[in-house]
Amino acid sequence: MRGRVIALGAALCSIFACTVAPASHATARCPWMSTAMSPDARTQLLVSAMTVQDKLALVTGVDVASPQWAPLAGHAVGYVPGNPRLCIPPLTLNDGGAGVSDAQVGTTAFPAPIAQAATWDTLRARTLGDALGQEAWGKGIDVLLAPDVNIARVPENGRNFEAFGEDPFLSGQIAAAEIQGIQHNPVIATVKHYAVNSQETNRWYLSSNLDDRTLREIYVPPFEAAIDQGHVGAVMCGYGLIDNVFSCEDRNTLTSILRGQLGFDGFVVSDWRATHSVGRAAAAGLDMEMPTGVHFGTPLAQAVAAGRVSSRTLDRMVSGILRSMFTVGVFDHPPPLYENVGQTNVSTNADQILARHVEEEGAVLLKNAGPILPLHPVAGSTIAVIGQPAGALDLAPYLSGGGSAYVAATNAVSPLQGLTARAATVGAKVAYADGSDPSAAAALAAQASVAIVFAYDHETEGEDRPNLELPDDQDTLIADVVRANPNTIVVLETGGPVLMPWLGSVPAVLETWYPGQQAGVAIAALLFGDVNPSGRLPQTFPASGDQGPITTQAQWPGANDAQDAAFSEGLFVGYRWYDHVKATPLFPFGFGLSYTKFAYSRLRMHPMADGSVVATFTLANVGTRAGVEVSQVYVDDPPAAGEPPKQLFGFRRVFLKPGQTANVKILLGWRAFAQWNPNQQNWVVTPGLYRILVGGSSRSLPLRSFYRPPR
Ligand code: BGC
Repeated sequence: MRGRVIALGAALCSIFACTVAPASHATARCPWMSTAMSPDARTQLLVSAMTVQDKLALVTGVDVASPQWAPLAGHAVGYVPGNPRLCIPPLTLNDGGAGVSDAQVGTTAFPAPIAQAATWDTLRARTLGDALGQEAWGKGIDVLLAPDVNIARVPENGRNFEAFGEDPFLSGQIAAAEIQGIQHNPVIATVKHYAVNSQETNRWYLSSNLDDRTLREIYVPPFEAAIDQGHVGAVMCGYGLIDNVFSCEDRNTLTSILRGQLGFDGFVVSDWRATHSVGRAAAAGLDMEMPTGVHFGTPLAQAVAAGRVSSRTLDRMVSGILRSMFTVGVFDHPPPLYENVGQTNVSTNADQILARHVEEEGAVLLKNAGPILPLHPVAGSTIAVIGQPAGALDLAPYLSGGGSAYVAATNAVSPLQGLTARAATVGAKVAYADGSDPSAAAALAAQASVAIVFAYDHETEGEDRPNLELPDDQDTLIADVVRANPNTIVVLETGGPVLMPWLGSVPAVLETWYPGQQAGVAIAALLFGDVNPSGRLPQTFPASGDQGPITTQAQWPGANDAQDAAFSEGLFVGYRWYDHVKATPLFPFGFGLSYTKFAYSRLRMHPMADGSVVATFTLANVGTRAGVEVSQVYVDDPPAAGEPPKQLFGFRRVFLKPGQTANVKILLGWRAFAQWNPNQQNWVVTPGLYRILVGGSSRSLPLRSFYRPPR
């Protein structure tokens, strides 16, 4: 169906999108189209010209599944029609942390966000954001519902793959960079799910019960970075409740913290069907209900008419939406009409190369005894490739996680294809067994010089994993194969931590997460040593199912039939807990091997006038290959601060050739030395001596120094 095209003054609109005439033509009729004015001034001018009806039309969406909007169904998850009279373009919303989601064709399936975080590469994250924004815009989408920055509190969380791991600082830095990239285009990024959303079990009605300090130090900081550094245009409030108040009607998080303390001036959009009231939600700080106006449709209109929702509140809602639209350029550069671009291929060569680079940087080499890797197969030898993910081209849970963040892979290169092509360059062959018959797989492995087993977990929105074991008897498959051939490498395609009962007998393990459509090319390059692994874990891998801070039912899935989750571990999330109780995980936060080795020396601290401090140190590549080290800086507060033993506050990727040395500088902002004081409702620097720890993982920190912040 083609959209009806109506020419109305400045804007040429179909039912799907408007092409706004150049600003100069538009200004007479719609003076806010002048780009000479600030976004604020343009917003004020436009709001003053709007009727109540115009305003109400902006704060909720239409049903994209209804016949009237048919072409949008499956291609956008939310749609706010434009207002041609006022030159307001429509808003078209879609998911997209790993690529533009839904039934889109011709977009790139990038590696999952957990892999993006494992790169610890903010420059790459910015480039990735730019590509996501460009592809979204090319597909007619101007609000991208990404990134997800929920902290990995529960490793079984079904959406673990969708976010950036367990550390607030790393999550915030990756998110801010990605948002800058997305909004480098006329596309609004949406940081989600505010403020706490750590499990899928009973996600609609679970109350996350936590204290103010934990909220501000662990769960809010990534949103804060998204606002401060990323200037994000939209925040999505989550499902469930925070201390028994629905997230999307929680005045504390949506107004006191978000606007009052963090200075957010964009708009808050509800998660899909997460709005539960009219007046309460609007007054608390919700600006837009999605996907449709169950509450912000007719009921809001009635509440405004009756004075139960003030015109001031309605203006706040509308202003936040318009301000973000003006700021990122949606008014001045609206995306093309969806009907014209639905089938268009926006996945450029550059984007596919980027997908490969992200995977090459994000894959984490967890074990390499021997070293068995990189592979050097001799001509005529056979490599046995085993497991369902190796042959997969387009399926969750192999290349992408499931749910709203699922991305269909177009032109995917499976690991089997990538390895077969790479092996051929040295005259080696690849033989494949999908692993459904473990004895056939073991027999194949026994004949080969080396076996590579691909294993997966099932992560999807809507349900948590029952435990951290590999599903579908894959542990048995791996054990059978390694018994048949001790030269066995396990490649994990998982969205988060898994248990590895076979680890003692398997010489090498590579965690590739959900690797996206360039899986085969990237994995072959890593295993053959064309690329030196440099990814680092953004999340601790526990040694057993009951290790870690979350051990009681009251914590997860929650008491009273998963209605109340007690965040009783407080600040001790992830590695903060392992350090606190001195537990040894399977693999620690920040860990990842390389084919080369690095040495650290000469740590010095250089205090700056604003309370921040620069750590400088020398890093040397003392191995025989070029490679990247991810240097990490942790801060150990004085005991009086009451903080976990150490916390990440700086990191940098450094590329070095063999024998090369670099002087590395890493800035620690003043917040690295501050704690949230709930009584003062402010950040306070506890006086004392702060230990500074530097190294290549949270459990390998050879350099130590001290810093005493000024009073
Ligand atoms: C998810 C959001 C997503 C929305 C729209 C919800 O189920 O929780 O993350 O943006 O759907 O697809």
